Amino acid sequence: MARAVMIDCDPGIDDMMALLTICASPELDLRGVTTVGGNVGIALTTRNARSVLALAGRGDVPVAAGAARSLVRSPVSEKEHAHGDDGLGGIVLPEPPGTVDARPAAEFLAATVAAATEPVTLFAVGPLTDVALFYAMYPQVAARLERLVVMGGSIGAGNMTPAAEFNVWFDPEAAHRVLTDPGVRVPTTLVPLDVTRRTGLGDADLAVLAGSGPIGALTAQALGGYRHGLGAVTPVHDAVAVLAVLHPELMTTRPARIHVDTGYGPSRGSTVVDLNPAPAGGPTVDVVVDADHRAVVGALLDRVTSLDRRV
Ligand code: BDR
Ligand code: CA
Repeated sequence: MARAVMIDCDPGIDDMMALLTICASPELDLRGVTTVGGNVGIALTTRNARSVLALAGRGDVPVAAGAARSLVRSPVSEKEHAHGDDGLGGIVLPEPPGTVDARPAAEFLAATVAAATEPVTLFAVGPLTDVALFYAMYPQVAARLERLVVMGGSIGAGNMTPAAEFNVWFDPEAAHRVLTDPGVRVPTTLVPLDVTRRTGLGDADLAVLAGSGPIGALTAQALGGYRHGLGAVTPVHDAVAVLAVLHPELMTTRPARIHVDTGYGPSRGSTVVDLNPAPAGGPTVDVVVDADHRAVVGALLDRVTSLDRRV
């Protein structure tokens, strides 16, 4: 039986890759998508999520919009948008059918998880605001999650500031709540920047994607502009989090205790990942510390190009 999943996202070019990977995976049964403000504002992340689902032939999947801003303090950045003004690098996607679910993301997550007859795995690949609200408002329902899989944080350097990764930097208080003090026991996997930034698509990979058909071509076009100045590879951070569920054997995972810096100094939004946690203390999360990067890229390409073979 396929695994029931949901995803909270802020598309976002690599979020698009994550959504397409889920849609291309028969082992995953996508029950709903929620959106959060992050890479771009909530109106655009919601429209983008719905358009990407329509592109993948999954316009039937319900989408609910979540938090427009972070819980406590809106982050300020001088950096230009890595994902372009519209969040998807200017590609033209189909007009999504239907309407956005009227419920706020936290309520929609709770209703969907409560209605499921089996435990649901939740991917969180944007700022953790919606998940923190879900945990705070519906702890008994959240406790029924099979697992939360987060793309975010870093063991080493950040990408928004020298210390902080974007998703945690955007809403550190939400990340603190979800990763260190959830109030509920949810098995949690953290897929940090250290691993995802080493799992990038090179020119040959983008050519494979571009050659697969219209879906691959649009995805390659979006990814082409998303290099973050990293040189030869285009990262697909959020899609790596999906692969952590589809192919755990390609990743090395260790339990760790996380500290999120919620102070207002230069390391705000950074994560301290203690890979040698003492037995006593707060909850641990399973942190992906390494991956077979080429195998992960190969698996992602297989999945996403399969969407073009379907149509
Ligand atoms: C994360 O930040 C966002 O820009 C990406 O979509 C990804 O979720 C990487 O740091
Ligand atoms: Ca994202």
